[in-house]
Amino acid sequence: ALRASFALKAHKGAQVVQTPFQPQASYKVAVLGAAGGIGQPLALLIKMSPLVSDLHLYDIANVKGVAADLSHCNTPSQVLDFTGASELANSLKGVDVVVIPAGVPRKPGMTRDDLFNINAGIVKNLVEAVADNCPEAFIHIISNPVNSTVPIAAEVLKKKGVYNPKKLFGVTTLDVVRANTFVAQKKNLKLIDVDVPVVGGHAGITILPLLSKTKPSVSLTDEEVEKLTVRIQNGGTEVVEAKAGAGSATLSMAYAAARFVESSLRALDGDGDVYECCYVESDLTELPFFASRVKLGRKGVEALIPSDLQGLTEYEQKALEALKPELKASIEKGIAFANKQA
Ligand code: NAI
Repeated sequence: ALRASFALKAHKGAQVVQTPFQPQASYKVAVLGAAGGIGQPLALLIKMSPLVSDLHLYDIANVKGVAADLSHCNTPSQVLDFTGASELANSLKGVDVVVIPAGVPRKPGMTRDDLFNINAGIVKNLVEAVADNCPEAFIHIISNPVNSTVPIAAEVLKKKGVYNPKKLFGVTTLDVVRANTFVAQKKNLKLIDVDVPVVGGHAGITILPLLSKTKPSVSLTDEEVEKLTVRIQNGGTEVVEAKAGAGSATLSMAYAAARFVESSLRALDGDGDVYECCYVESDLTELPFFASRVKLGRKGVEALIPSDLQGLTEYEQKALEALKPELKASIEKGIAFANKQA
């Protein structure tokens, strides 16, 4: 029951129509940064969703062609393009889900935190517009460093008096997608069956896959746990190095973000069985933001799932304690930025 909806749908194909859940194309989704490396394939995947009636594509440049191209796909949603600050407000009116992959990606040798100076300001500006034009929307933040950009978004929304912690999400789905793939490969399991919860944050050691909680349960040696954990934490860097200066993960990220959008739309549509890992305001630890599995519902986060953090292995418990100072510092950096700019 705790598996991801997007993968399940893809796997079951035609059987989906036999479930009591009947998709209706009635939701409006906006992508901010839609002409980018993530934005374009993400827009394509969202265009394929049976739940979307309107797809709004916003960027500072090059978005007209992307929208014209996508608009020829004979799927239900209408695609509209919006270019530049003067069209930002219109791109957000009446929108149910806003996805933000705007900003610069990493080059080899860079950490996600190296992107802070540019992306923090971009996220702040975009979230201000979200607050003014669609304060009720689910907000999915992809722009890195997610550990800081989500706290920035929260502060911006608070200043505007519209912060709803249940509707602000840092997208960490790619960490789960990677964990599922790497564990399935290692153990020769059918990919679609594997589900690994990933908690903490979205950078380096703050990414903590809970391999002991893998479903179906797998037995791993200490060495396998160490190797898999490090590979999942460095999955992004693996891609950055392979692209050698041409950017970071875009296609796998678009896949992961589309899964999170689809899960959010299913939750909005009343599906009572939607669970995803994401980075949200949290009381599971002493940190104000923390990624964990959450139950999604019509109003956003319906419940955090504390059981994932219970009965950890010694390795996981240590890694959890070790990530907290770094995650705390990233959260504080985001909050300080948002307040300094006031
Ligand atoms: P990209 O450079 O290919 O695309 C970024 C797009 O944002 C461009 O089209 C650019 O015009 C647009 N943009 C810049 N400033 C903007 C503004 N003020 N308003 C609207 N759009 C604006 O970068 P890519 O590869 O698509 O990555 C985007 C972000 O996603 C990066 O910050 C990257 O670090 C992050 N990322 C996050 C992941 C995650 O797991 N959460 C995984 C991979 C990347």
